[in-house]
Amino acid sequence: MCGIVGFTGSQSAAPLLLDGLKKLEYRGYDSAGIAVLSQEGIHLEKAAGKIKNLDEKIQGGATMTGSSGIGHTRWATHGAPTDENAHPHMSNGGRFALVHNGIVENYVELREELMAQGIQFKSETDTEVVVNLLDLYYAGDLKAAVLKTVARLEGAYALGILCKEEPGRLITARHAAPLILGVGKGENYFASDVTALVAHTKDVIYLEDGEIADITPESITIYDTAGELLEKSIEHVTWDVAAAEKGGYEHFMLKEIMEQPEALRATIEPRIKHGEIVLDDFSLSDSELKKINKIMITACGSAYYAGSVGKYVIEQLCRIPVEADLASELRYRNPLVDEHSLLVVVSQSGETADTIAAMKECKARGARILAIVNVVGSTIARLADDVIYTWAGPEIAVATTKGYTTQVAVMDMLAVYLARRLGRLEDGEYKTLVEAIRSFPELVQQSIDQNPKLPELAEKYHGHNNLFFIGRNLDFAACLEGSLKLKEISYLHSEAYAAGELKHGTIALIEEDRPVIALACYEALLDKMLSNIREVKARGAEVLAVVLDGNREIFDEADDVILIPRTHPLLNTLPEIVPLQLFAYYMAKSNGCDIDKPKNLAKSVTVE
Ligand code: M6R
Repeated sequence: MCGIVGFTGSQSAAPLLLDGLKKLEYRGYDSAGIAVLSQEGIHLEKAAGKIKNLDEKIQGGATMTGSSGIGHTRWATHGAPTDENAHPHMSNGGRFALVHNGIVENYVELREELMAQGIQFKSETDTEVVVNLLDLYYAGDLKAAVLKTVARLEGAYALGILCKEEPGRLITARHAAPLILGVGKGENYFASDVTALVAHTKDVIYLEDGEIADITPESITIYDTAGELLEKSIEHVTWDVAAAEKGGYEHFMLKEIMEQPEALRATIEPRIKHGEIVLDDFSLSDSELKKINKIMITACGSAYYAGSVGKYVIEQLCRIPVEADLASELRYRNPLVDEHSLLVVVSQSGETADTIAAMKECKARGARILAIVNVVGSTIARLADDVIYTWAGPEIAVATTKGYTTQVAVMDMLAVYLARRLGRLEDGEYKTLVEAIRSFPELVQQSIDQNPKLPELAEKYHGHNNLFFIGRNLDFAACLEGSLKLKEISYLHSEAYAAGELKHGTIALIEEDRPVIALACYEALLDKMLSNIREVKARGAEVLAVVLDGNREIFDEADDVILIPRTHPLLNTLPEIVPLQLFAYYMAKSNGCDIDKPKNLAKSVTVE
């Protein structure tokens, strides 16, 4: 969580830092701050609330002079979102300013140690401990002080450091939190995410855990925590500035929903060659594959729900046991995995702390790790044995949409690919599935186009505080995501329920006018769903049914209908989820919510 940026060059730093923070606002937005080195020393400005508050306070950066500086946008972990707790934090005496993303786990003991030496603290943060420790260790050699400081830290950190006595010089250090360097001409940058850099440079260096960068306008020197110099290569990113902007849409979320056909094309097309699914990025040999007797899928939030879709499809096609597990549970449950297990890790950001921990836990037990990730060069991508990138492009809205659908598309491709390699798919069925996957982009577009009344449906339902999503099999997996989308951006309580489970307790909550969104696209269980719809209707529920084109019997039972174009019965999730994303979007809009930045949430959850 939190976003950090740094700039050193000859231009005025504050407007550039502010711009970078705006790009990183999805990482946290409860307070922000900038520190710039000027002739008079370090000039620090901070403001609680969204970045626009800081922007107004420093008049777009005009009130701050200086050509090197650091900035931060915060998602609070230690202490309330106040001006005092906002970053950057200064050392006593004002020699250092420091920004931090992550959590220093041993900060209490470090704080006590520093207080015993007379150091005073103004904030409740773990970060203020780090900046004062640095100051304590500084005796004219910045590198030595940084090495000594990071050696004392336990937990996660991406640090940005500005020193009054070192004009033009910035230091960054990384451990278990993302950090990328931007390489310019006569100027250099660092940021938590490449989206903050692409407007200025597309040449980047991905810092690894335990690496420290010493940055001036003309040079970047990288060393490890022992102070040994490291050679790192510069990589060129292909994302353009427009891809990180709103492109005329009112919200990033709407833009990203509408981009799904294009994102899916980027995910799928390069991986279907001459009618075959080709996953070059998956290097498991035939003999290794034959040894796999169990597939585990782990992730958090929507990525976990994409994994839940994968569980149904992979198990059905490959006939291998598949478990889908929340990373925050898996990491602590002494998992039964070994060298015969394939762990599929799913993450848009590639930086989710629980997912990383679960992955490390399973890797230590010998599991082979395949990651499905969007952000290139992210931690999960680098830790995995193999990576299938989703190529969704930058996703800015906190609520994932194209991130999720591209993950589902990869899950579907993986299922078909593995089943083929394991000899479990007949030629004809294989071709049908490959063609169905190839047509995902058009199918999703059709699903958007044939549901123009979603804003009206949202107008009708947005006043209800409690909603249910029900479905069976793959429809149930889609319910989980549909319900999360609605909850996280509209703040309405909704529950996803396996339709067959309702009668075991939850049906007690069904009453007059209770909205029930019934997903009925898994045709093998259509009759069962029809019965469930009748059960809730009999108790007064208002039913919005999500049905495949042509299933008239459900039309007649439901109050409202969302129509989904047909595809292979195992692949309906994609066309089915997109109208639900739009439904959640319009519900949130009707309720006047801050759609791209829902309260209490951040895009990348880099803390446990
Ligand atoms: O970056 P990741 O895919 O690992 O993120 C996982 C979840 O934090 C994420 O999907 C979250 O649930 C989103 N807010 C859902 O829209």
